[in-house]
Amino acid sequence: MLANGRTHLAEELRESGLRGRGGAGFPVYLKWNACRMAEEAEKYVVCNADEGDPGSYIDKYLLEWRPHAILAGMIAAGWIAGAEVGLVYIRAEYPESILRMQNAIDELVEAGWLGSNIHGYGFNFTIRIIKGAGAYICGEETALLRSIEGQRPEVSVRPPYPTVHGLFGKPTIINNVETFANVRSILVLGGRGFKSIGARSFSGSKLLSLDSHFMKPGIYEIAIGMPLSDLVDAAGGFRIPIKALQIGGPLGCVVPVSRIDNLHVDYDSFAEAGFSLGHAGIIAIPKDFPMIRLLEHLFQFLANESCGKCFPCRIGSVRGRELISRAIDGEKFKVDRVLFDDLLETLEETSLCGLGGGLPLSVRNILEYFNVELEPYFTS
Ligand SMILES: Cc1cc2nc3c(=O)[nH]c(=O)nc-3n(C[C@H](O)[C@H](O)[C@H](O)COP(=O)(O)O)c2cc1C
Ligand code: SF4
Repeated sequence: MLANGRTHLAEELRESGLRGRGGAGFPVYLKWNACRMAEEAEKYVVCNADEGDPGSYIDKYLLEWRPHAILAGMIAAGWIAGAEVGLVYIRAEYPESILRMQNAIDELVEAGWLGSNIHGYGFNFTIRIIKGAGAYICGEETALLRSIEGQRPEVSVRPPYPTVHGLFGKPTIINNVETFANVRSILVLGGRGFKSIGARSFSGSKLLSLDSHFMKPGIYEIAIGMPLSDLVDAAGGFRIPIKALQIGGPLGCVVPVSRIDNLHVDYDSFAEAGFSLGHAGIIAIPKDFPMIRLLEHLFQFLANESCGKCFPCRIGSVRGRELISRAIDGEKFKVDRVLFDDLLETLEETSLCGLGGGLPLSVRNILEYFNVELEPYFTS
């Protein structure tokens, strides 16, 4: 990795077309290059292992079974950007992950891949683990950086982006666990080899976690672009009758079973169809589960996890939950659909971060595809 120099490695990364796996799909080369170009001497590389999406254990799998791949990706980031410190932010609810990552770090120190003047290339790089206390918002990149700094984990306004003003105000690369692990594949296959896998605009493979309503639950690795129906077939179908899939957690989407056959597991085709792949943890929703309860749960989740910095999310989450709960409890009360749509639009358009801004998509999917079931609870 070090022998061919920084520029060569950066070029391989550009050619690979690697995009982030944490949910937003931002091109990795652009992020790393921005940090590389920053003129400050002190820079950081941060691995986001906060994985808070219910039903997602993709990062947990990688942390426990492929820790060296993640660390190789972080070392590559440090080498390209000129950073000397790497931090892995792991939620404390993953004690086994913390243990195994620490063992892998110790092994790399022993092998001379971490420390001072690594293999004689004049490159110094250390990696430390930081334990997160398990708030969902700490997965949002700026809140995560504030948490490492010992501050209240509130979202920061962007720009400036972390690549120029990140941890302790210094240029910082922050990526998801799976993104770093993919860099290791680029080191092995080369940029072009990596690009030859997956979809044209979204190269490589993707891990997905399937819950226990599938016949064969677990972690699956697929080439990006695979038909969603093939994935369901590979998992042996469902144990019980299912009406929808919640994909990518609360900030992802809700796909009704009727749409499974014409969707491909690809960020762009999901977006074109009005869905969002997110980090791709998948929970199957049983046929007899009331969708109004899922709506209530989504707003309750938003209210619980909101960092409280901006009004639309702080207040809108509670008002949304109140409306739904009243419609469930009260015999005569129906949610005013115009008011409700206005709330969703306000959240989408004016929230400061992807928590308030991203949650309405799942709500909209449910309203669109389960409108008959929801008729008793909403005005038309
Ligand atoms: C509320 C919220 C929670 C998030 N949680 C995570 C998380 O647990 N892990 C993660 O990698 N990204 C999470 N993200 C996305 C990060 O802010 C950021 O985009 C990501 O770490 C960038 O990495 P990537 O480019 O490799 O995907 C979250 C975003 C939001 C808005
Ligand atoms: S959208 Fe919610 S979580 Fe995000 S900054 Fe606003 S209050 Fe905080």
